[in-house]
Amino acid sequence: TFSLCISHMLLLSPSSALPFEQKGFWDFAMDSMDSDGMMTMMRDEEDGSAFPPPELPTCPFGCQCRLRVVQCSDLGMTEVPKNIPRDTKFLDLQNNHITELKEDDFKGLTNLYGLSLRNNLISKVHPKTFAPLKHMQKLYFSKNLLTTIPKNLPSSLVEMRIHENRIKKVAAGAFSGLVNMNCIEMGANPLQNSGFEPGAFKGLKLNYLRISEAKLTGVPKDLPDSLHELHLDQNQIQAVELEDLKRYKNLYRLGLGFNHIRNIENGSLSYLPMLRELHLDNNRLTRVPKGLPDMKYLQVVYLHSNNISQVGVDDFCPRGFGMKRTFYNGISLFANPVKYWEVQPATFRCVSDRLAIQFGNYKK
Ligand SMILES: *[C@@H]1O[C@H](CO)[C@@H](O)[C@H](O)[C@H]1NC(C)=O
Ligand SMILES: *[C@@H]1O[C@H](CO)[C@@H](O)[C@H](O)[C@H]1NC(C)=O
Repeated sequence: TFSLCISHMLLLSPSSALPFEQKGFWDFAMDSMDSDGMMTMMRDEEDGSAFPPPELPTCPFGCQCRLRVVQCSDLGMTEVPKNIPRDTKFLDLQNNHITELKEDDFKGLTNLYGLSLRNNLISKVHPKTFAPLKHMQKLYFSKNLLTTIPKNLPSSLVEMRIHENRIKKVAAGAFSGLVNMNCIEMGANPLQNSGFEPGAFKGLKLNYLRISEAKLTGVPKDLPDSLHELHLDQNQIQAVELEDLKRYKNLYRLGLGFNHIRNIENGSLSYLPMLRELHLDNNRLTRVPKGLPDMKYLQVVYLHSNNISQVGVDDFCPRGFGMKRTFYNGISLFANPVKYWEVQPATFRCVSDRLAIQFGNYKK
């Protein structure tokens, strides 16, 4: 199975390069409900009116509290409000002006499952802020002013989004103890390859990692080897060298679009036997990368908007039958200087359907 995270990556969807956007509060709640059967639980609660709460529930001023969801978004808050009910499951603080998380901000919230701090001005996090949140699984911290990964994240954490901050360095052991973590979205941070200390990802068994829109010049070599999805689009990667992908044997999806890749060293793709989907669009490739015919499960290859001037008859498909387990259902080659009328039809003999090939004219 793919990661728990919603990757929003539909096959051949042009929007797949876009980062996850949390559009509204309900996306946040629904997302969590999906994976935890919360919807059912909440309905039960509504019917349980025969058991009135022993005391009047509190709710922070201006927020809405209902069914253990505390909704305090877009209120101009400059700090985390007091009086958050102790049984809160979801706390939504997005789109405020909070600058800091203090030691006691989440005191007593041991039932909290999801916390959204998205789009605030947080640059400081007390090292004990998260200590009470022993059951927190989802943390949405994108669009803030963090310069490092917050310390002492709860070991229950499954998903963290920390996109669009100012993180330049990820220290060794930054994620240590996070044995349940499945998904990290940390794109749009000014991260260079040298910003990851050796051992930065040590201990993580991630399925999904996204470090797009950063300042990487090569594929980081030290990421978790458990990854199923790795998105490194919109960086400054110049080339893929032989050993770069050696570690990532479990990858299903690899995103390298919108980089500066001129060359993919022969043999480097042979380390990815499980790969289904490869995005290399908007690079500077002059030829189809070597090794595609040997990738038994590869179904989608984006090569559009490169500098490919020739496509050989054996660039995509193996010579013998039966070597490929799944046919391609998406190959994009448009916006390349290839004379498409010179490409032999047999080039696409292992493609499920003619419509799966996007060719088109080269636009000067
Ligand atoms: C790529 O490497 C394979 C062996 O790994 C070799 O058979 C093939 O000729 C090489 N192709 C090129 C273009 O170097
Ligand atoms: C495209 O490739 C050709 C060689 O095939 C090279 O002369 C040209 O400079 C390349 N163009 C770009 C924009 O990289």
